[in-house]
Amino acid sequence: MSPAPLESFDDDPRVGDTVLSETQIAERIRELGRELTADYADERPLLVCVLRGAYAFVTDLAREIDLPVEIDFIAVSSYGASTRTSGVVRLVKDLDVDLTGRHVVLVEDIVDTGLTLRYLRRSLEARGPASLEVCTLLARESADLEGLGVRYVGFTIPGEFVIGYGLDVDERYRNMRHIAVYVDPGV
Ligand code: IMP
Repeated sequence: MSPAPLESFDDDPRVGDTVLSETQIAERIRELGRELTADYADERPLLVCVLRGAYAFVTDLAREIDLPVEIDFIAVSSYGASTRTSGVVRLVKDLDVDLTGRHVVLVEDIVDTGLTLRYLRRSLEARGPASLEVCTLLARESADLEGLGVRYVGFTIPGEFVIGYGLDVDERYRNMRHIAVYVDPGV
């Protein structure tokens, strides 16, 4: 019996228009890496990756930072299996590293309503870091980035739900190399 064919994102009707190509993403991350390298020149920053969406971003970003960075992971949940936030953020996995006196960069996939970020900021600031900055790959045009204190932003995008490069729907599409609009079959 021959194996089932591999899924192809090219033929998937739920993968809509490309929002950001693999090349655009890589180029912007190189720039962000240069900025972080300059800003943290004399430090050993701790990148806190917000799972699971930021896993791809933190991997590429860390390799574009020319400093001895450390990486730790935190996981929160607010979306469940849908494309709508539940409005409640829950800590699913905590950090292993002690943040006291550390220069922390919180690495996010996307800032949408800002609910997740507000929750994480409160939680991490209470642990006494020397500094806490936020680096997000994507931000909605509607997000109050100044109010939320977001220092590094890859791209601002409109309101459509997007998938790929770490971003999922029901745990799918995270391994797509580009970012595309999600076409909801129910719409
Ligand atoms: P916020 O709390 O509303 O800012 O939502 C932030 C989180 O929601 C992100 O870390 C993502 O996990 C998820 N999210 C928001 N918009 C999208 C999207 O367009 N695609 C995939 N995940 C998203």
